[in-house]
Amino acid sequence: MENHLDIAVEIAREAGSLLARLFQGPQEISYKRPSDLVTEADRRSEALIVERLHRHFPGHAVVGEEGGGQRIASDYCWYVDPLDGTTNFAHGFPVFCVTLGLAYRGEVIAGVVYDPTRDELFTAERGAGAYLNSQRIHVSQAASLSESLLATGFPPFASNHDLNIQFYFRFTLLSHGIRRAGSAALDLCTVAAGRFEGFWELKLNPWDKAAGSLLVTEAGGRVTDLTGRPFSLQGDEIFASNGLIHDQMLPVFAEILAQPDERSK
Ligand code: IPD
Ligand code: CA
Ligand code: CA
Repeated sequence: MENHLDIAVEIAREAGSLLARLFQGPQEISYKRPSDLVTEADRRSEALIVERLHRHFPGHAVVGEEGGGQRIASDYCWYVDPLDGTTNFAHGFPVFCVTLGLAYRGEVIAGVVYDPTRDELFTAERGAGAYLNSQRIHVSQAASLSESLLATGFPPFASNHDLNIQFYFRFTLLSHGIRRAGSAALDLCTVAAGRFEGFWELKLNPWDKAAGSLLVTEAGGRVTDLTGRPFSLQGDEIFASNGLIHDQMLPVFAEILAQPDERSK
């Protein structure tokens, strides 16, 4: 198990260094669909990660955001986001990371998130705590939503019917504010490190949240869906908090979700 994490750390650092180097040059941007950017850096980082994982763990499944990997039947599956924060990266805004999460029979057991711009390495193993640059981290002790700093994100294909705009509006008035920094994996690590009290997002993929969700629970936080049901890696919602403000936020989500037809917009 230690071996899984050690190798994932080595790979994340190598991919992170590649991203940091490419960040200095001009970006070659193409579009998956309008506003959904992909750069040469996404592809090169994924190719590197997939090659290394395959070399170390030939029997493991690997699911990469850019379509790389090997989707074979295996108890072990790596979820890889080779560049989380592509839009930031493409615009020269230095908030992005590499993230690798390892699931065993569908449950995340290890995760790494590496931010090369700050040289911050977040790691967690199930049952063994969460760490930032080898120092144990814990969620914040703030007990009240009104004293909390929150975060969220919007998918690249957000529309003005996106329900999250209503959550954003309500929680802005109920908290110290909301950050939309543009990297879901880093947002989750930021909750784990006690810098944000809560984070939620509606339309994420498993590679965005595998590692970060484990970081939060191992740092003592709580991770569910927006209704308080257990978090599912394959579901598209996530709500992570320090645990103390969770029950203060759930009724606000519930009230907005109860509005007629909101889910179908
Ligand atoms: C995106 C980021 C962003 C989140 C989007 C994701 P990408 O991932 O995590 O913070 O709001 O929903 O798609 O495209 O940069 O890997
Ligand atoms: Ca992502
Ligand atoms: Ca990505």
